[in-house]
Amino acid sequence: MTSFTLEASYHLNLATIDRQHQQILDRMAAIDQVITGAESAEDMNSVVNVLEIYCKRHFFDEERLMERRSFPTTLEHKIQHDLFVQHLDQLKSSDTSPRSSEKVILLRDWFLNHILSEDMRYAEFFLKKG
Ligand SMILES: [Fe+2]
Ligand SMILES: [Fe+2]
Repeated sequence: MTSFTLEASYHLNLATIDRQHQQILDRMAAIDQVITGAESAEDMNSVVNVLEIYCKRHFFDEERLMERRSFPTTLEHKIQHDLFVQHLDQLKSSDTSPRSSEKVILLRDWFLNHILSEDMRYAEFFLKKG
């Protein structure tokens, strides 16, 4: 079974942000359940829409936080967020074939990589700045 748990090594030690990251992974798990049929009552587009709402809110919060604290590469970081939202839109038009399950794994992997390679940078910057 695919894991959607935020491991400790992905924690930024910023409580709100870490909580949002886990909530987003929970929404991805819900999509995976729809695809694998465990929660067949739910419609694919509606679970992807909920994920999109969570992501947009989280990305907005992160971008405001980076702006407020003058993080130097906020714009580049925002571009990565925008690309991810575009990928979500592509998922909406897909069906629930096995290939879609792979797409959710790709979304999860993108998201986890983003935390490690991008979100960690601002967390470290905030820590150094004090
Ligand atoms: Fe994030
Ligand atoms: Fe981010």
